[in-house]
Amino acid sequence: MNTPVYPVRWHHNRVLLIDQNRLPNEYTHVEISRVEDMAQAISTMIVRGAPAIGVAAAYGMYLGAREISTTDRAEFLAQLHETGKMLRATRPTAVNLFWAIDRMEKTAASCAGSVAEIAEQLLVAAQKINAEDIETCQAIGAHGLAALPSSPDKLCLLTHCNAGALATAGYGTALGVVRSAWTEGRLARLYADETRPRLQGARLTSWECVQEGIPVTVIADSMAAHCMKQGLIDAVVVGADRIAANGDAANKIGTYNLAIVAKAHNIPFFVAAPLSTIDFSLSDGSLIPIEERHPAELYQIGETIVCPPGVEFYNPAFDVTPAHLIQAIITEFGAFAPAEIVNLQHR
Ligand code: MRU
Repeated sequence: MNTPVYPVRWHHNRVLLIDQNRLPNEYTHVEISRVEDMAQAISTMIVRGAPAIGVAAAYGMYLGAREISTTDRAEFLAQLHETGKMLRATRPTAVNLFWAIDRMEKTAASCAGSVAEIAEQLLVAAQKINAEDIETCQAIGAHGLAALPSSPDKLCLLTHCNAGALATAGYGTALGVVRSAWTEGRLARLYADETRPRLQGARLTSWECVQEGIPVTVIADSMAAHCMKQGLIDAVVVGADRIAANGDAANKIGTYNLAIVAKAHNIPFFVAAPLSTIDFSLSDGSLIPIEERHPAELYQIGETIVCPPGVEFYNPAFDVTPAHLIQAIITEFGAFAPAEIVNLQHR
């Protein structure tokens, strides 16, 4: 299928989500017309990836708005706020979710028209967030390409999780950099960590690469250090779910391990993310809320239980890579040393 992948799409008065829990075995869409179903789709990870859940939540706000029956403006705004609260409760780590809901609430509050006109403006705003995200990712891709090491001529990159088209409105952040490198003839191969426990690398990143003919090798997460020692990796590029003002970056669990082993092998480690992923209100990464998910993600693979009874589990979905392990944060405005991102606050 060499056509662009759009995980969240407004189509015939409803939202179409690619069902990411069924990939790569089935490419199907789920139709969402109610905000409750959107909240469920976000928490069950039918749609996932920081920018993608922001876009999904923006449409969710519109779906919620059109379910509100009052014509009283103040009452409408109060109910819309409750809709926002429901969506905010779905996943705690990716700040894009909160950023998009805030933006939708501001749109509603600043629209002086009738309730019907506010609802109309909310759809326009969600579509704008959707379209902007694709452009943002393309800019990240271009800036990332410029930030990559200049030699060798063709690079082998390593990524973790899926920060691709599926995780955004399209094109991807870390995978946007990979796509740009591929298009410009600078990519030899992408190594994709399988990304236990939910296997976003094995299932989703590799699927995206196969759609476009990008050479991809899936490795188990535990193989990264070995591959680096063998000289197989020239640079690491990952996405982020929330970046604190000092440049500490939360991303899929296992990213921190990768940053440490990259440092040990003197391999540059890049984080690619839009400005909407930077949480300037948090001074450092220790303040980033880390989602903990159901232990079944650890003890069950398909229908098979892989651990004996009586075992305890700990399943944090994200970790925080300290800024000092990051060579640059690649945004739509350029690539910056982690300490410099604070200057982007008023863009
Ligand atoms: O739990 P997920 O699959 O939503 O986690 C996704 C990631 O950690 C991505 O790397 C991150 O959201 C960046 S997506 C451009």
